[in-house]
Parts: sequence; structure tokens; C-alpha cells
Amino acid sequence: MHNTLLSILLCSSLAVGFGHAVSHGKKDNSTSVVVETIHNFGLNISLENLAVRKSGEIIVGLDNGPILYQVEPKIKGSASFIHSFENYFDIHGITEVAPDQFYVTVGNLSLVTHIDVPGHCAVYHVNMTCYPDHIVVDKVANFNESRILNGMTVFNREKGLVYVADSRVGVVNLLNVYTGEHFVAINDTLTNQPSNATEITNCVHGVHVFESDGVKYLYFSNFAKGIIGRVAIDEKGLAKGKAEIVIDNLDTPEDFILDKEGKYIYLALFESNEIIRIDTETRDIKVLAGSSDSSTYKWAAAVEFGRLEKDKDDLYFSINGGFLEADNVGGTVFRIPRVSDIPA
Ligand SMILES: *[C@@H]1O[C@H](CO)[C@@H](O)[C@H](O)[C@H]1NC(C)=O
Ligand SMILES: *[C@@H]1O[C@H](CO)[C@@H](O)[C@H](O)[C@H]1NC(C)=O
Ligand SMILES: *[C@@H]1O[C@H](CO)[C@@H](O)[C@H](O)[C@H]1NC(C)=O
Ligand SMILES: *[C@@H]1O[C@H](CO)[C@@H](O)[C@H](O)[C@H]1NC(C)=O
Ligand SMILES: *[C@@H]1O[C@H](CO)[C@@H](O)[C@H](O)[C@H]1NC(C)=O
Ligand SMILES: *[C@@H]1O[C@H](CO)[C@@H](O)[C@H](O)[C@H]1NC(C)=O
Repeated sequence: MHNTLLSILLCSSLAVGFGHAVSHGKKDNSTSVVVETIHNFGLNISLENLAVRKSGEIIVGLDNGPILYQVEPKIKGSASFIHSFENYFDIHGITEVAPDQFYVTVGNLSLVTHIDVPGHCAVYHVNMTCYPDHIVVDKVANFNESRILNGMTVFNREKGLVYVADSRVGVVNLLNVYTGEHFVAINDTLTNQPSNATEITNCVHGVHVFESDGVKYLYFSNFAKGIIGRVAIDEKGLAKGKAEIVIDNLDTPEDFILDKEGKYIYLALFESNEIIRIDTETRDIKVLAGSSDSSTYKWAAAVEFGRLEKDKDDLYFSINGGFLEADNVGGTVFRIPRVSDIPA
């Protein structure tokens, strides 16, 4: 039995020291952009999505194992184990609904064969309130008809409604995390597979809700189609019409984020090993990190802003690392400080 005071004491035990240290720089062709290495997980670990806690720590999920880690948001920050989802193979989406209440997608995708075992996708709730003393993990819903549950994002925080992309079926589901009810909310040509898809092609990947001029949109990336698209959504979270292309000709777009004003989209390009910034008005693209012929940021996966006063303008990103490739550098979390200061 915990009384409130004991819970507060137990739960507030981890005060992270946020040191600032020297950083190593990386240049692209025009301006110098600083990229800091936060944590390298080593060669046989492939990272996918990340999320940031209100206390600033980063949560990352593996996609070559069903494991969640927490990473300190500082240069050479340490990583600590959170949870392993027994009997699953991978973690893709991570999103927070209420403070420190995270929801993750797990499945049985093999990162060796890229074949998924149908009938084994699920979403779990990970209660981080008392981490590291203890965590509470419980299953929210099975998604037996799904294949690779991927990006997740909040649609309605109060009602606990989240979007969950399925990057193999090509649709976006809407899930009530409090009841487990879910259904296909978006099924559009632009979220679907291309006509030449094979058994291992991935399509709709990252998802993000953004309101612009009073209209709510679900933005999404489609990995195989090389686009970021968006579709207007109604108050129930359903598509109001056909989706439209925001930008095309992208090489394997993975997860992305829009800034507060909707001026820029920050995006990971998987096979180009790049983090790019897209100006939503001009469609100009600036490469912030990486290049197709360098392994430093091999297979870029996901991006997130920090959440502390000091790092809310910093962009954290994860790379797969190049799992099983000859030039594997290992799953790593990086940070680009003060991204909004980087000139166009
Ligand atoms: C990575 O995995 C391969 C194959 O299982 C193994 O031979 C190798 O020792 C591992 N490397 C590290 C650094 O763990
Ligand atoms: C896939 O995951 C389930 C849990 O839902 C597990 O019980 C099962 O053994 C896994 N299937 C395969 C083929 O690995
Ligand atoms: C999260 O866990 C804490 C402590 O274990 C508990 O007090 C709280 O009710 C939980 N929150 C939710 C939303 O499950
Ligand atoms: C869905 O999958 C779970 C876990 O593999 C299984 O226990 C359950 O019976 C399945 N439900 C349906 C309706 O097939
Ligand atoms: C998506 O829409 C297509 C075309 O209407 C339909 O054939 C398919 O079954 C739908 N997929 C899902 C998962 O609802
Ligand atoms: C499908 O076609 C596109 C455009 O022609 C091409 O870039 C892509 O590699 C093809 N994909 C597959 C799986 O063949």
C-alpha cells in the first residue's frame, strides 16, 4: 500500500543532471549544423520510434527486439531498461496520451526477413509515473487484422483517441486507449500501398495531427510512395474527403514532426540516411544531417522535439543504424540543438 507522500517520494527519486558538454559538428553543403551524439546502443540494436517525457528523458523502442529504453537527454547520456514485451518481436509507434502514460505498438515483424507474422499486433499501455521504481504495463487492444502497426499520434487527448498507422495494410486506425475499441479511420489511395508493392513493402508510416486555418488535418508519410500527404478530418477523426499530397519525390520518408507554427516539417529519410527540414510554404528542403553516401546517420528513423524549457527547440532523432549491413553503425539517438535558429 502506498500513501500519497510515499508515492511522491518514490516517484520523484530520479533527478537527472543535465550537463552541457562539447559537441561535434557536422556540415552539410551550405551551413554548419551541430549534431550531438546522445547515446549509441551498439551494433546489434536497431532503433525505431522515440517519444519524450515531460521530465525530458527520451523513450526509444527497438524494432529488432520488443524492448523500450529511456535515454538521458544529454551528450553521452546513459540508457536504462524500461520493459521487454515478451513474445513479440518489435516496437514501432510510441505516443503519450496523459502525462507519463505512454502507448506503444508491438508486433511480430522480423527485421531479418521483413516478414510479419499476421494476427499478433497489439497496443500496450506503459505507465511511467513511478519509473524507475516500478512501471505498470497492460494490454489495451489486440489488432489481429493488422500487420505492422507503425506511427501513432494523439487525435483527442480527453477521450483517449489515438491514430495508429498500419504500414503494410496501408490504413490509419483510430483507437480508444481507454476502451480498446478501434476501427479503420483513414483508407486513402495516398495511405495505401503502391500498385507495384511486394510482400515486404511499407506504405503509410508516420502520422501527425495539425490544425491549420481552423481545419484539422492528419499528416502522414508514405514510405513506398515517397510522399507526405494530409487529409482533413472531422470531429470523429474520420476523413472528410480525399487526401492530398503535401510534398512528393522524397526518398523513403519515415517519421516526421511539424513545428508549432506549421512552418517546417522535420523528417527522417530512411534510405538516404538524412534528417531534412521542409518549408511547408515554399517546399524547399534543407538537409540538416546525413547524406545517401555516408553511414554516420545510417537509416534515419524518427524525430521529436525536447520538452524542457532548455531543449524544447532541440530536435532529437533516432537511426536504425543499418541493422545487419556491412556498414552498420548501431542504433543511436542524436540531437540537433536549436533547430529553429538554423537559417533557411
Ligand atoms: C551481432 O550479432 C552477430 C550475429 O548474431 C554476432 O556475430 C556479433 O557478435 C554481434 N555483435 C555484437 C557487437 O554484439
Ligand atoms: C507472436 O506474438 C505472440 C503474442 O501475441 C506470441 O505468442 C507468438 O509466439 C508469436 N508468434 C510467432 C510465430 O513468433
Ligand atoms: C500509473 O501508475 C501510478 C502508480 O503506479 C498510479 O497511481 C496511477 O493511477 C497510474 N495511472 C494510470 C493512468 O493508470
Ligand atoms: C487475437 O489475437 C490474440 C493474441 O494472439 C488471441 O488471443 C485472440 O484470440 C485473437 N482474437 C481473435 C478474434 O482472433
Ligand atoms: C480500404 O479500401 C479499399 C478500397 O475501398 C478496400 O478494398 C479495403 O478493404 C479497405 N481496407 C481496409 C483495411 O479497410
Ligand atoms: C515501384 O515503382 C516505383 C516508381 O516507379 C519505384 O521507385 C519502386 O522502386 C518500385 N517498387 C518496387 C517494390 O518495385
